This record gives sequence, C-alpha cells and structure tokens, in this order.
Amino acid sequence: MAARKKKTAKKGGTAKKKAARPAFRFRLTARGAAAVAGKQLRGGCPRNLLDPIEIASRDEIAAVQTRRLRWTLAHAYRNVPLYKQKFDAAGVHPRDFRKLDDLAKFPFTTKDDLRRAYPFGMFAIPREKCVRVHASSGTTGKPTVVGYSRADIANWAALVARSIRASGGLPGDLLHVAYGYGLFTGGLGAHYGGEALGCTVIPMSGGQTEKQVQLIADFKPQLIMVTPSYMLAIADEFEKQGLDPRRSSLLVGIHGAEPWTDSMRREIEARFAMDALDIYGLSEVMGPGVANECIETKDGPTIWEDHFFPEILDPATGTPLPDGTSGELAFTTLTKEAFPVIRYRTRDLTTLLPGTARSMRRMARITGRSDDMMIVRGVNVFPTQIEELILKDQRLSPHYVLELRREERLDRLDIVVEPKAERAADAEGLRQAAALLAQNVKAYVGVTANVRIAGIGQVARSIGKAKRVIDLRPKD
Ligand code: DLL
Repeated sequence: MAARKKKTAKKGGTAKKKAARPAFRFRLTARGAAAVAGKQLRGGCPRNLLDPIEIASRDEIAAVQTRRLRWTLAHAYRNVPLYKQKFDAAGVHPRDFRKLDDLAKFPFTTKDDLRRAYPFGMFAIPREKCVRVHASSGTTGKPTVVGYSRADIANWAALVARSIRASGGLPGDLLHVAYGYGLFTGGLGAHYGGEALGCTVIPMSGGQTEKQVQLIADFKPQLIMVTPSYMLAIADEFEKQGLDPRRSSLLVGIHGAEPWTDSMRREIEARFAMDALDIYGLSEVMGPGVANECIETKDGPTIWEDHFFPEILDPATGTPLPDGTSGELAFTTLTKEAFPVIRYRTRDLTTLLPGTARSMRRMARITGRSDDMMIVRGVNVFPTQIEELILKDQRLSPHYVLELRREERLDRLDIVVEPKAERAADAEGLRQAAALLAQNVKAYVGVTANVRIAGIGQVARSIGKAKRVIDLRPKD
C-alpha cells in the first residue's frame, strides 16, 4: 500500500505540473475515495487459494484444452445432427483434430444456426437430462434457448465463484445480486456462483431502484453484481435519498452484460469508493463467468481457458488472427454436456492478450459488437468511443443515448446526454460542454454529431442492459 502511494505521488509529478492539468479531469481513484470514506479495499487472492490450473504452465493448459476439445468435437458430432451435418459438409471428422491448430479446420457456429434449431434442436443430451434452460432474446425473432446438465450447472457455479474470487470476493461476504433473474443468465448465474464460493447471496434481481438502495444500506453487502449502467442509476438513487454512496458498505462491484469503458469504471469507483471489475459472458457459451478481471491487475477479463477455447477472427473472412490483433471473438466450449458450441461467433470485438495475474489469456475490454457498430456517413462508430469522450468531461453524466436519423439522404447523429445533477443549472458551462463534445467526436471518431443536453432523468434508465443506440433511419 505504502509503495503504491509513493508511486502515485511520483507519477503525479510536481505541484506545478499538477496545476497545469485541466481541473475538470480531476477525479479520486477507488482507493483515494475509499481512504476518504474510511474503507479498506480488497487485494488479490493468495496464490495458494486459486484453482491450480489458473496458474499452471501454458503447456499444461494446452494439454487440458487439447484433451477436452477432442471430447467436445466427438460429443457434438455424435449427438447434435446440425454439427454432424456441418462437419460432413466441410469434409472434417472429429478424428482430424490432433492439436489445437486443427480446430481451424472445423466450421463455425452462428446465432442463426442456434435460432433455426429453436427450441431444443442443439441439445447434445436428451432434454429430460437437462436440469435448466435459459434463453437470450435477440433484437428480432425467436430467442436462443440453451440447456444445462447438472454437471454444467456445477461447472458454471464454480467458474462464477472463481470470477467473484478474482474480483476480490471472499467466502462469507454478503453478495447483492441486481442482475435480472429469469431466462436471462445474469441473475441465476451470479447467484449460484456466489453460493458456490460461500457467500450469503441477496437475490434482489433488477428494478425497484429505491429498494435496491434500502437493502444495500440495511444489509451492508461487501459485493454487488449488476450491469455498469444500472450501478450508476443506483448511485443516483443513493444521492436522491440523501445518502453518500461512498459511505456504503460496498467494496467490490462485478459489472458486465454490456459494453462499458475505463472512464465508466473510474466513475463507478469514485462514486462508490469501491473496486469495479469486468465480468464477461454470453448465454450461448454459458452465461456470466466465461471471463473475469483480476483485482490485482484490472487489465481486462481473464478467460477461463480450461473451459472455453477462444479465437480471434477477421470478422469479414473468418480467418483466425494472431493474439494481439483486434477482431471477432469466437469460443468453443470444452466441458459442456448439454449445449456444446463449436467455434461460436460471438460478434464481440476484442483482442486476445497474454496472461498477467493468471497464466490464462485475457481479452481486452469489448470495444463493441459487430452488430452495434453504427455506420454514420460511412464511418464506423461504436457507442463506447463516444462514451469515453462524454466521461472525459466532469460536467456530463454517463446517462446518454445516440439517435440516428436520415435527413436528405444523409445520416444525422444526435448525442443526447444528461449533465451531472450538480451542474444542471450551469447553462453556459453545459453549452460549452456540448460544443466541446461535438468537437471531440469530430476529431477522435471522425463524424459530425449534434449534442443535445437533456434534462435530469430524461434519458431512460435501464434496469439491465442499457440501450445506447436508437436507429430511426429507414431500413432500406
Ligand atoms: O449478458 C451474460 C452476462 C450476465 C455477462 C451478467 C456478464 C454479466 P447475454 O444476454 O447472452 O449474456 O449477452 C451476451 O453481452 O455477447 C456481449 O456483447 C455483451 N457482454 C456481456 N458481458 C460483457 C462485458 C450475458 N463485460 C452479450 N463487456 C455478449 C462488454 C459484454 N459486453
């Protein structure tokens, strides 16, 4: 801790240098805010308490992956007609898999494949042997239904437990779960993981924001699992009730299910005086806990590679790309009985990075999905790029939405953003903030945008995944 403080002081430089930085960039770090609030934040988990495979050698990890991939390919081929059909059509057989590189010979699986098999056509065990189903709703059409055997549920719980532990959670902690319970995997996934780690789980689910605050204030949980956008709505509600979120009991927030940025992390950490960690996952592959950030490094989620084999593909051609290159993430499950997926194309865009706190590889923060990328006058734009720029300005809040229209054959992008409550009366400051944001979006993203400052509470709050883009352009 002392060493960390010294380092920060050194990094900050002289008083003269500090004064030269624009005042609106100043924000307390999680640890700074925690010190003010008198909280002791968590550190990393001692290595002897980790699952041995988390810190095994790369050779050991590759050996486990090879063995498990061989099993998965054979299992999928034998038990799921669509995989047999696809492998046969591509002229490959599970026997052709001998080493990890051989996976590239096998065909991809897409969301459309899963949809076509609605509801249970991709199950690799009899439906009667499944103990649970979940479903993810797409923007259109039927949901994708996924199934779990008893062993799948146990593995999932163990991986979410591993994720909570990587985030700084400990057995005996109180865990407030504000992800939705139901067909969405967030609530129940977090719940079973918390129980498996030995936490006391508060199954609050999403919504009822006032009650969320009441329970956090009264039960005093150390941990919370919730989408990052809803975490901020909870912060607003704390303040509305005259409570300081920094003085809450929360030490660790585990956030995911939607793209978010490091600026958003800093905002959450400063407002709650806690550490905010990134959890990643998707229903088709399992649910939350496919990857999770480690508190000691906070440098992108570590992929639990003993259960999921990741690849990065060129989104246009599907060609596998080397680690360190940005592209579309694909996963092959290694242990799933009921719903194995082979080279499932997630549409999430990221980069595979070498391990740091663990030997397993990390993924960079998701920059967006290939399908929520907006093309505005020919320029590719991700909501996260705009979020970064909004949150650079202390006058603006993270409550924003992007509206797309077509005017005289040209795309028009409106950024509708709420100010911070304490800045709402500063009309001149907000006019300047709007002009500065438009200028930055033009300079850094490359598109012209109109910035509209909305009244407090005018941007709809999500209780789960935030909807950032409203595309009102005619579908042609
Ligand atoms: O969102 C599972 C989940 C629940 C993950 C709770 C984390 C926490 P789906 O509803 O199937 O499952 O949506 C999966 O959400 O492909 C990503 O586009 C996005 N997503 C999930 N986690 C993150 C994250 C759950 N940490 C889709 N960062 C994925 C960015 C995320 N995007």
